[in-house]
Amino acid sequence: MEKRRQGIRDHLVLVPCPFQGHMKPMLHLANLLHSKGFSITIIHSQSNSPNPSHYPHFFFRCLGDSSHIQSASDGDFVPFISALNQHSPTIFRDLLLRMHFQDPILSIIHDSVMYFPVTVADELDIPRIVLRTSSAAAGFAFALSIPKQQRSLPFQENELEEALVEFPSIRGKDLPVINTFHKEARDEFLARVHHGTRTASAIVWNTFRGLEQTTLEKMELLFSVPNFPIGPLHKHSGASLTSFVTEDHGCIAWLDQQAPSSVIYVSIGSLITTSESELVEMAWGLANSGQPFLWVVRPGLVNGSSNAAQLLPKEFKETTNKRGRVISWAPQEAVLAHRSVGGFWTHSGWNSTVESISEGVPMLCSPIVGDQRVNARFVSHVWRIGIQLEDGVERGKIEKAIKRLMVDEEGTEMKKRAMDLKDKVASSLRQGGSSSEFLHSLVDFIKGKLCNP
Ligand code: UDX
Repeated sequence: MEKRRQGIRDHLVLVPCPFQGHMKPMLHLANLLHSKGFSITIIHSQSNSPNPSHYPHFFFRCLGDSSHIQSASDGDFVPFISALNQHSPTIFRDLLLRMHFQDPILSIIHDSVMYFPVTVADELDIPRIVLRTSSAAAGFAFALSIPKQQRSLPFQENELEEALVEFPSIRGKDLPVINTFHKEARDEFLARVHHGTRTASAIVWNTFRGLEQTTLEKMELLFSVPNFPIGPLHKHSGASLTSFVTEDHGCIAWLDQQAPSSVIYVSIGSLITTSESELVEMAWGLANSGQPFLWVVRPGLVNGSSNAAQLLPKEFKETTNKRGRVISWAPQEAVLAHRSVGGFWTHSGWNSTVESISEGVPMLCSPIVGDQRVNARFVSHVWRIGIQLEDGVERGKIEKAIKRLMVDEEGTEMKKRAMDLKDKVASSLRQGGSSSEFLHSLVDFIKGKLCNP
């Protein structure tokens, strides 16, 4: 606190969304900005809060008791996020007023899905920057899929149609989907996220120009504010404890014993769930592929069960115990960087996608909701570093797809292209590379030294 009072560090307030896939990039961004000399306060919800002891260099403020808000454990996050956004403005305003008085806030950086800072920041006249944790392509597709009357985009309707034509890699069925029983709340949520992004003073993206240049140009047209593609964020800021769940590091010693590029790593992220029958199909697809595997089966992975691993068939465990390992949570970045991992069967969440790209690991994609279909489509048809598993989860199709990815010539070609992208990631982060330069510009922009990058 002493340093702040002496005015040595400029003060930023960061507002993450309390889901693993959103918290992680925000904490990486916080680390990065701290390393550039900013003082960081994290405003967090009561549930899924980051552990302050992992970040002694940050300040933490809680948004109060939100125990009345039901968690999103049933997979429907819309009521949870809407309630959190409704619950938070008053307490956020009080917190900001107190902090701003003691230590003026240079800027608020909030996850786009946490839109409650918008009105409060306007009222207190504090600049506001949005972090989009998705790809730019998914951001564009989301903007196209919000209800027409709420778009208020710089496009006319016919131009919107043209925009979709300009986005030829995306089919209608790849557009983002948010499954919910609360459709009105979902439409309002999308419109508010869109409004919050459009009216921010800048947008930070966890992507990089060498990967999404064309789409980033579209986004600049769509949201006419400075865009800072500074990703992959986890590669800038190095290892840090961003996981809510304890990671099983024992799997690294197991990977050490496997042949190079032989293991398929399997995880469907932190949020989505599956049915017991799909779990069983996945298990037999893996078993029949003959490939070594490391599979993350989270305790809550199967709807209605608190221990999904127990639902795996006994025969599957017996058949695969020598070449497969099932764990409840992985140190994913270390796993993907391991020389034994040759492929990633993923749900195509953006963090997973960008982490895989950063290590040159080709993907088998099983997208389910949200931005995942757009990501999967780009992986399979634009960057051509993976295969999309379509039309359900069935053991025969899984077995075939794993062989295509891990054994066939086609997979070798994907691996080469994935390695090229890995090199592009490294160059974008080097001094003079695009992400590194955008980061410098972002720092200058926050300090008011730059109007446009
Ligand atoms: C969600 C959405 O599903 C995703 O589409 C969106 O882009 C971000 O929010 P999630 O489903 O959890 O996130 O997927 P993803 O974005 O891939 O994030 C999962 C994160 O958890 C990754 O950073 C991954 O490294 C981490 N993880 C996952 C682990 O650390 N260990 C694991 O065992 C599994």
